[in-house]
Amino acid sequence: MALREIVLYPHDALTTPAAPVSSFDDELATLLNDMAETMYGADGIGLAANQIDVLQRVTVIDAGGEEPHLMEIVNPEIIDASGQFKGSEGCLSFPGLHEDIKRNAEVTVRFQDRDGEEHIVEAEGLLAIALQHEIDHLDGVVFTDRLGPLKKMMALKRYRKLLAELEDE
Ligand code: CO
Repeated sequence: MALREIVLYPHDALTTPAAPVSSFDDELATLLNDMAETMYGADGIGLAANQIDVLQRVTVIDAGGEEPHLMEIVNPEIIDASGQFKGSEGCLSFPGLHEDIKRNAEVTVRFQDRDGEEHIVEAEGLLAIALQHEIDHLDGVVFTDRLGPLKKMMALKRYRKLLAELEDE
């Protein structure tokens, strides 16, 4: 396994939609292993392949909770969504930035695992939010895109300041 470099906004990979996976091979297995290691290494609860500059529809999530476990998610698709939830989100590609984002409270997602087997997960709480956040990444959408125009402008201004401070260190 290897740690991969997490790209920061405004890297192009974060605003480019990822392509579906068609080969469930060793390369995919290595990608998933590396993504899990990279996510845990960065103390994240989710990581999309776009964030390591790989434009494939692959994401890993460990939303913790009562039964913490790693989810390996390939070619996910939201097939049902309901309810409203607004909560603070962060993103490994926006270090230090936290914004209140409106999402669905419950989602049903169909996805494939590393062997190509299909699964359906019904999620609520943090897992539902993480799924929506990561699937957005695969579509080239970042969490600040979910803000209204003024809030987005202010968030990106705060983020640029945070980045400049990071670069000064
Ligand atoms: Co993110």
